[in-house]
Amino acid sequence: MTLFTFHSEHGLARGLAQALDIPLSPMTVHRFPDGESCVRIETEAVTDTCLVYACLAQPDPVTLPLLFLARTLRDAGAKKLVLVAPYLAYMRQDKRFHPGEGITARYYAELLSEYFDALVTVDPHLHRVHNLQEIYSMQTCVVESATTVAGWIRNNIDSPLIIGPDSESEQWAKRLAQLTGTAYVILQKTRHSDREVEISVPDIEQWQQHTPILFDDIISTGSTMIVTVGQLLEKGMRPPMCIGVHAVFAGDGYLQLLGSGAAQVVTCNTIHHDSNAIDLSSAVADAVRQLA
Ligand code: R5P
Repeated sequence: MTLFTFHSEHGLARGLAQALDIPLSPMTVHRFPDGESCVRIETEAVTDTCLVYACLAQPDPVTLPLLFLARTLRDAGAKKLVLVAPYLAYMRQDKRFHPGEGITARYYAELLSEYFDALVTVDPHLHRVHNLQEIYSMQTCVVESATTVAGWIRNNIDSPLIIGPDSESEQWAKRLAQLTGTAYVILQKTRHSDREVEISVPDIEQWQQHTPILFDDIISTGSTMIVTVGQLLEKGMRPPMCIGVHAVFAGDGYLQLLGSGAAQVVTCNTIHHDSNAIDLSSAVADAVRQLA
């Protein structure tokens, strides 16, 4: 196998190639003056099974070159194309929220499934879609970050209390609590707009001697975590640790979260970011071995 990627500087891409002991083939995209792109592979690097590692955090400019790469590899003789997209984009638009909108989670799934044979991803945002196979027609394998995150917590935090900021986060918070042998609390979130959320915290005074660990799959604008940190501090809790799986961090969300009163902001390396502290290379490599 060979690992092809446009993101050869990303820790997880490098770690994955190392864990699998396979060559990493860095790709560049040539942009023509008119904005069109050209992907070029070294044909001798094309193996029967090709892994393609893609960071889909800003999906629109990446997706077209990614599809071109897949088709180019296929033309050059690749028999099986496995997409490793640690952060799976477009999963949140899983219903028509307003009349006239599209269900882009479904459309994006159909598009990727046409070009690849299998997908490995980490904690996709499953909400109204309960299983990736409901929308992806290619084979899929989901890596759960919780096992690795639990190890990090055990090594770094005394007396943790896991907190999920909204009902969707319960699936991850509950699992993390099981693995760390701690209690968990789920808060209630009402989202008014992209950046405006309201969080209500139940009575949690009994946990004041614990370190709150806010755990969510995606940190995007940071609003969910920022508001939650404020609410927890108001309740007399210790400064919370914020752990996100996917460091999307739109705009200045990261700086705002750092200044919110959080003790620390830590993420997994599914998206290359300064906050990455939890390495998922070995968990993702295990999943690739199952599929490839
Ligand atoms: C959605 O429910 C997700 O699980 C996250 O809670 C959400 O994406 C966080 O977004 P933001 O950081 O913009 O509040």
